[in-house]
Amino acid sequence: METKIFVNPSDEELDIAADLLRKGNLVAFPTETVYGLGGVFCNDKAHEAIYEVKGRPKDNPLIVHISDLSFAYKLAVEIPPLFEKIAGAFFPGPLTVILKKHPSIPKQYCCNLETIAIRMPSNLIASKLIAKVGYPLIAPSANLSGKPSPTSAFDVQEDLLHKIPLILDGGLCNIGIESTVISLLDNNPKLLRPGMISKEAIEEVLGISLSTYAGSEILSPGTKYRHYSPLTKIYLCETMQELKERSSLERKPMVLSYLGEDPEYTAFDSTNLYSLFRTADRKAYSSIFIYKSNKLTQDAALMNRISKALS
Ligand code: TXA
Ligand code: MG
Repeated sequence: METKIFVNPSDEELDIAADLLRKGNLVAFPTETVYGLGGVFCNDKAHEAIYEVKGRPKDNPLIVHISDLSFAYKLAVEIPPLFEKIAGAFFPGPLTVILKKHPSIPKQYCCNLETIAIRMPSNLIASKLIAKVGYPLIAPSANLSGKPSPTSAFDVQEDLLHKIPLILDGGLCNIGIESTVISLLDNNPKLLRPGMISKEAIEEVLGISLSTYAGSEILSPGTKYRHYSPLTKIYLCETMQELKERSSLERKPMVLSYLGEDPEYTAFDSTNLYSLFRTADRKAYSSIFIYKSNKLTQDAALMNRISKALS
């Protein structure tokens, strides 16, 4: 299949994208977090293609992306009052909320769960595209299952060229890691996946604390799979000395320093971590070394992604 690429898509090009989507095809598009592999929600062809193209386990549910808050009330029921506070503060933006699924939505489109994940991206290409389609889009990250999420159209091509008809290229993603996921199924909200919107920021808006559910695999099926991993082996070093000693023995080490704390090494933060992981694989680095500095341990979202990539 030929894959077309529209760079900074015009209105007409977004119309073409929306048309492809309405016919059940997949279109990759940028969001503020990572690129998504979009398909129309509740379209059998689109649902099947997403799992097939990504090689995604069939029991891992998808996030439903909306451009208009009114859709949340068509997709979910028994929405707790906390949701309005959350939506008011963080929608549109890098936050996904799990709610109870509306009975009108067939369970098969939600991996037979009674719940649904809803997110309203702030990226303009994403929100215009959803609005043009006129219906929510399911969109997992646009990578092959298990690989780091794509933060550029180039990353998407690396994984999905010839597998999908269209990629919308909107440049680099601002945030670079996936959305924060919270569950609002009752009045006891839970953090299922940390992200750029921190636990503390959400707690401040809610005025109550968020629990981090120990067995979150049960609540968020995706968290049980290996994720975000480059093929290159990663070492998270407890001390600078360990990092220096171990990396000096390597043929071609990639040594990373959080926020450029050590100017000798390559600086990283959420915006370029996945792209560095992909570079390590592409350019055959022998291993990746990261120093576990105090500052890094305080960044819950990045520590979560690095820990997953280690395992
Ligand atoms: O930033 C993001 O969220 C990106 C962009 C494209 O929007 N999307 C993304 O999708 O990261 P994905 O499919 O790679 O990750 C979705 C996560 C998975 O861990 C999945 O298990 C969880 O959300 N999830 C989806 N529906 C759920 C549900 N009903 N209950 C619990 N977890 C759910
Ligand atoms: Mg993903």
